[in-house]
Amino acid sequence: MEEISPIDGSRRGLKTTLYLLSLFVYCTQSLYADHPGKAAIASAHYLATEAGHEVLAQGGNAFDAAVAVSSVLAVVEQTSSGIGGGALWLLHRASDNHEVMIDGREMAPAAAHKDMYLNADGSVNRDLAVNGPLAAAIPGEVAGLEHLAVNYGKLPLAQSLKPAIRIAREGFPVYTKLFRMLEYKEKVIRRWPAATKAFLPAGKVPEMGQIISLPELADVLEKIAGEGRDGFYTGAVAQKLVAGVRAAGGIWSMEDLAGYVVKERKPVRAHYAGYELVTAPPPSSGGIAIAEMLNILEPYHVEKLGKVQRTHLVVEAMRRAFRDRALYLGDPDFYPVPQSMLIAPDYAAGLRAGIMFDKATPSDMLPGRDNLPDGTDTSHFSIIDSAGNMVAATLTVNTIFGSSFMVPGTGFVLNNEMDDFSAKPGEPNAYGLIGFTANEIQPKKRPLSSMSPTLILGADKVAVLGTPGGSRIISMVLLGVLDFMAGNGPQSWVKLPRYHHQFLPDRISAEPDAFTAEEVLALQAMGHSVEVRNRCWGNMHGVMWDRKTGEVTAASDARSDAGRAIVR
Ligand code: DON
Repeated sequence: MEEISPIDGSRRGLKTTLYLLSLFVYCTQSLYADHPGKAAIASAHYLATEAGHEVLAQGGNAFDAAVAVSSVLAVVEQTSSGIGGGALWLLHRASDNHEVMIDGREMAPAAAHKDMYLNADGSVNRDLAVNGPLAAAIPGEVAGLEHLAVNYGKLPLAQSLKPAIRIAREGFPVYTKLFRMLEYKEKVIRRWPAATKAFLPAGKVPEMGQIISLPELADVLEKIAGEGRDGFYTGAVAQKLVAGVRAAGGIWSMEDLAGYVVKERKPVRAHYAGYELVTAPPPSSGGIAIAEMLNILEPYHVEKLGKVQRTHLVVEAMRRAFRDRALYLGDPDFYPVPQSMLIAPDYAAGLRAGIMFDKATPSDMLPGRDNLPDGTDTSHFSIIDSAGNMVAATLTVNTIFGSSFMVPGTGFVLNNEMDDFSAKPGEPNAYGLIGFTANEIQPKKRPLSSMSPTLILGADKVAVLGTPGGSRIISMVLLGVLDFMAGNGPQSWVKLPRYHHQFLPDRISAEPDAFTAEEVLALQAMGHSVEVRNRCWGNMHGVMWDRKTGEVTAASDARSDAGRAIVR
């Protein structure tokens, strides 16, 4: 008889336990449906959500729907995203459980340089950095849409672009957010005749409900439908763009456009409470920051703590992740981002060791600033189709209407994504974010993003979420993920009162309903500075599939009235 050493015996025991465990997981999983059978889309505009379902009904999958939703948003929500901007689409393909991020982030033009926004006295010229063609990086959205359609979709690009072309030609009614943002940006838009003609028809902010049509944008989209990315990056449209940008003081060239490249990036993965998080890698800072924060938080079991204690620990995690964002993150093709260190549980353990339970850690390692503006733009949508394919996409022109600059004859505004670079070491950008070498301006480099499209994968539930909001994207997605972990669904994540800390400025910024007066006092007693704002932020859209019950749910943030979540 074979003799079994105690070690062998325990190995065998371990093997048996593992075998039984995997049998259990297999059995429970196979009890659950392997596809949702229904599709859910939640986006920032009802016409975009409808367009996604229209394309699904024609036999398209989630990726075709993503092309339709993105392109309709590029028409109806130019405050936030468009073909003059960029996007990150995070995909899950159900047939082989493949996850990938399509990086359609803008690239700096070849003539860009480190000091391009500095005045003679060395200060940053904020107007140049955010308004007008010099603020615009080379757009990536069109190349990304083609990449999605060709490599992941079932329908031709031209078919998925149809709703956008139709809406651009026939027009769409002005809605509350568009109306308000036009009022807010009217002065800047007026600097450029083409943007004025498109968005201030009759020379003034249009009335609510007035129909805006963008026939020139419809023409450009038709060209893309016919020729793919070449219809935008080479040929007549490209020539028009380059000539228009240069005539107004910009630095784009034909080579910049022709040389735009989409990248497929391996997502960041994090694990929390038995779920796997799949989220945005660099050139976004979001995934790494979220992974780092979850790693710091997991051993605390924050869901079991009282509100003040939980908030304190979540804020301390935010503070540390945002410090690392400023120091270490940038385009990985240009800067050696220490990704594996930042998302390692051991690294988080080191950071956790410096967190006191009853006292805030002051962010005094870098000079603080005090001019954080409110983030209200960029767009996010979440899709799951009946086969279980998923898309989390965040799209942007950066701040409201991007640079507000429009090349005559095109119908779309150009982004001001160059401001997502650090224009000067330690100098805050539009979101009060600071950066150093990792995110300095370099030709053809991608500016660091906070966009954090995220998937949560579990045996019992899967979820898709994200939001706009500049630097606050990261903290909003973290709060959404923690809310999912607490057992709640999309209706709850999108409604949740939000708070945020980004290392500098060293304060918690909170929505009006985030804390009671007593909770604010308790946080202050721990040494936190708390600023309760008189406004809300973000525009989160999420979907969830409960594999146990088969239920598919979706929700759109009520902070904006145009959003729509539809399960069909
Ligand atoms: O990529 C980024 O991080 C920014 N351009 C996102 C801007 C944004 O979310 C604006 N919304 N408030």
